[in-house]
Amino acid sequence: MDCAKAANLQAANSTRPGSPWEASPFLDFVYGRKAFKVPGLPLACLPTTAGPGSELSNAAVTIDPATDRKLGLSSPWFFPSLALVDPLLQEGMPPALTAATGMDALTHALESFVSRRASPLSRAIAGHAAGLILANLARAFKAGDDLEARSALALASSEVAMAFSQTGLGLVHGFAHPVGARGGVAHGLANAVILPWVCAACIETDPGAYAELAQAAGLPVTGLGPEAAAEVLLSRIRGLSEEIGIPRRLSELGLSREILPAILADAQSYRNRASSPRAFTDEELEKLVDSMY
Ligand SMILES: [Fe+2]
Repeated sequence: MDCAKAANLQAANSTRPGSPWEASPFLDFVYGRKAFKVPGLPLACLPTTAGPGSELSNAAVTIDPATDRKLGLSSPWFFPSLALVDPLLQEGMPPALTAATGMDALTHALESFVSRRASPLSRAIAGHAAGLILANLARAFKAGDDLEARSALALASSEVAMAFSQTGLGLVHGFAHPVGARGGVAHGLANAVILPWVCAACIETDPGAYAELAQAAGLPVTGLGPEAAAEVLLSRIRGLSEEIGIPRRLSELGLSREILPAILADAQSYRNRASSPRAFTDEELEKLVDSMY
């Protein structure tokens, strides 16, 4: 879907059709040199996984092979004209893909909800999506033909894209993009491994938003203080990860230690770093990437 979004705008904005990437309006946009001049053709998206939410988002992620960097971009012209979300198209997903894409959607819900740019409206959507994913992902992982669970995940991954198109994402994605681009790890799997580490580090200093998310997602936290409620959410995420076979550390993804400086550099310059609920220093980010390895 992201490739279609990019190709669509590249074709519409190319003054010399068939021109090489060096003269590319898309790369000009990627590096902030020039905006697109015209929208693309009407684009219809039919998601076959429940994860990226690209069918309802203003985002497209691309890799620049010249630098091996994965870049998330947004533009109002990346919103598709039509989204056809049919859980039957997602019924055949194997369990590992269900797990990875579902954790990507959960990461979107969580990062949008706790973002400093969140609003009551974006939080209503993100909290609802998080509840659906926490309640249904393990079910769909164990029984791929469970259409009730597949429908809930299809709805959650699509609806949360409306929230993160407003708020942007967070540092889990900041760390995950280089793991994908340089380490060849699937995006959702990278997010899934990184998510509990970033949550735990944020909860240490700023549990409030996580406690509110626990409440919004329907976890049993009534009467608990912010620290305790945030911990309920974190242990639910850890429990779900274990149930669906997500490794706990980056080293278990077959990555060598040499990749860590690149991961750190990308996270430090991540475009949504400022909307993290915890204002990490560069040194704190370095410690964090080290502990998650
Ligand atoms: Fe994502």
